[in-house]
Amino acid sequence: MSLEDALRKRAERIGRLRQTCRSIFELSQIITLEIGCGKGHWLSAYAAANPSELCVGIDLISERIRDAQRRAKNRNAANAHFVKAEAFEFLEAMPRDARIDKVFILFPDPWPKEKHHKRRLMQKAFLDYLRQFVSGGAKLYFRTDHAEYFDWTLSAISENSNWKTLALTELPVEEVSQFQRILPNFQTLAAEAV
Ligand SMILES: C[S@@+](CC[C@H](N)C(=O)[O-])C[C@H]1O[C@@H](n2cnc3c(N)ncnc32)[C@H](O)[C@@H]1O
Repeated sequence: MSLEDALRKRAERIGRLRQTCRSIFELSQIITLEIGCGKGHWLSAYAAANPSELCVGIDLISERIRDAQRRAKNRNAANAHFVKAEAFEFLEAMPRDARIDKVFILFPDPWPKEKHHKRRLMQKAFLDYLRQFVSGGAKLYFRTDHAEYFDWTLSAISENSNWKTLALTELPVEEVSQFQRILPNFQTLAAEAV
């Protein structure tokens, strides 16, 4: 695919996401976002426990999003919305005045080979970009089983003046996600938007 075609397709995806976002954000201009929500195990539980929050889960894989939607319905979590979207594209499609108050990134792909580290979500470019869409004091929670990715993320956040790490190692709601079930040895960190 040529670069021109790739950019055109990206713009079309963002256009469709804007439509989806419009109806979701009609409910509230402030959201709780899970990036890479998989089959929605964790966010469905979180949304059910926090019915006053508008919760949005995004993932690249349609089948996982369909599973997540079913799971939220079964839990009567009407405040949980699941959207097939890539993280940067979702942020770009959000309404201009909307803000994210909490971001959860649980067991993201660790891309363990050094030549693939540039594909990791948690790096300066993403942290800087994300900051533009969150409210001051917004919380970011990150959990991984991959010790090296944990240290990498801790450094990326510690070195970023937009974020400060918090002395928190638990999520506000604990529910075993699909990946947590098979990866029981994990570390968690939290940060606050400065
Ligand atoms: C290892 S799985 C973890 C799923 C879930 N959080 C859990 O704990 O079970 C990582 C998920 O992130 C999604 N993902 C990877 N990169 C993404 C991106 N840039 N934007 C949105 N989702 C992404 C993948 O499709 C995959 O479902």
